Amino acid sequence: MDRADVENDLEKVLLSQEQLHARLDELAAAIDADYAGKQLLLVGVLKGAVMVMADLVRRLHTDVQMDWMAVSSYGSGTKSSGVVRILKDLDTDLTGRHVLIVEDIIDSGLTLSWLLSNLRSRGPESVEIATMLRKPEAAKVEVDVRYVGFDIPNEFVVGYGLDYAERYRNLPFVGTLAPHVYGA
Ligand code: PRP
Repeated sequence: MDRADVENDLEKVLLSQEQLHARLDELAAAIDADYAGKQLLLVGVLKGAVMVMADLVRRLHTDVQMDWMAVSSYGSGTKSSGVVRILKDLDTDLTGRHVLIVEDIIDSGLTLSWLLSNLRSRGPESVEIATMLRKPEAAKVEVDVRYVGFDIPNEFVVGYGLDYAERYRNLPFVGTLAPHVYGA
């Protein structure tokens, strides 16, 4: 991806790499304090959570393991419907485990709401959520989120794991996409 092309596709940088990393330091410290002396299973939701998982897990001193799920929301285009299909399930038995779901973004909240009740039905000791970004104005359901990086406006954001048509995930910052890219 040519750098000039990417800059042309973006309207602005919403959160710089420095801001993301500074907030991750704070989130990791809070997680370490909350789970002191416990073993924690981090569950990343593919694909967007790869960046936040990689950066978060390296900041933690807690005894952690990682596992991954891939889910797909039935629905048209960029809108999730709340009907979720598991494309890749966990390898780990959740019985008696402390589980922390790691997400890049909570938009409508429908995916996380479904995932939360799905994982809670598997007999864990606890299930909490950490998300780097949340769009409060887009919420369709209330989801109890323990760790939030940033609340952001309801704009089309890409970078730091977030894509548009599978592009821009590798940007080290979060930017807003220029309308001409998605045909507005
Ligand atoms: C994103 C994000 C959440 C979901 C949030 O994933 O990672 O899983 O959307 O949306 P919601 O709150 O409206 O349910 P996406 O489906 O874009 O898949 P990706 O991570 O592979 O890009």
